[in-house]
Amino acid sequence: METLTTVDAVRSQVLQWRSAGLRVAFVPTMGNLHAGHMSLLAAARYRGDRVVASIFVNPLQFGPSEDYTAYPRTLLEDQQLLQEAYPQGGDQRTLIVVRGLSDILCGRFRPGHFDGVATVVAKLFGIVVPDVAVFGEKDYQQLLVVRHMTLDLALPVQIVGAPTVRATDGLALSSRNRFLSAEERARAPAIYQSLSRAARAIYDGSTDHAALEREGSLMLQQAGMSVDYFSIRNAADLSEPSAVSSDLVALTAVRLGRARLIDNLRAHRP
Ligand code: PAJ
Repeated sequence: METLTTVDAVRSQVLQWRSAGLRVAFVPTMGNLHAGHMSLLAAARYRGDRVVASIFVNPLQFGPSEDYTAYPRTLLEDQQLLQEAYPQGGDQRTLIVVRGLSDILCGRFRPGHFDGVATVVAKLFGIVVPDVAVFGEKDYQQLLVVRHMTLDLALPVQIVGAPTVRATDGLALSSRNRFLSAEERARAPAIYQSLSRAARAIYDGSTDHAALEREGSLMLQQAGMSVDYFSIRNAADLSEPSAVSSDLVALTAVRLGRARLIDNLRAHRP
């Protein structure tokens, strides 16, 4: 593992690899790495000869009253984790951590958020010039935004989605889980349970999406959460599904204590 902290250093390293005919896979992150991020790195290793990970807490994607300042910055621990997972020598693959680039359904509740994400991801793609980039399905809307941005700008990057990594009780791993008190953490699995219940109902033939959305919201409210949305959508483009749509996704965003948590689950109608 190698740590590079300037754009020029990243560019020249990647250029060297590309001219040697190596395939470069990329995993952008905001750091505070957990097993979810590590699973994306594993997926990237599988798809590329070299893997680049970036760590940058992107101010553009945080609203004025959001948690930009409080967002956990744990660069030393992150580097240690990466170093342990990808020690020097090994199979000679190199990992880069970039930081300090010029300090730089959710959309409705977070105006400008996805513009910020798309902008920084396009910028990171411009720096790293990867063949493939891996994003977590945990941030399902973000994955679609990035896919569309890549198509719109005709960027030659393959976008790969990787499954959500969860705690044993179902809570999706997230850097924001650390904002939960012990008591809030104990209530948080209701998020996954509410999504599972909706997905199961769809699988069992329910077509009343509005009722499923109401039930999902209610279950989360009863667990003491404030619900931004609980929504059943078409998985392909997040449009409103009809009774015959078969490839769906249930998505939710809640506020629990200081944390805003999001999660989603694919739901298939047989
Ligand atoms: P961050 O929240 O650090 O997440 C980085 C990547 O890890 C994203 O692709 C996200 O979907 C994925 N991820 C997070 N939790 C996961 C989990 N439990 N299982 C699987 N994957 C998970 O998402 C961002 O940063 C930023 O918006 C970014 C894309 C880096 C742009 O700034």
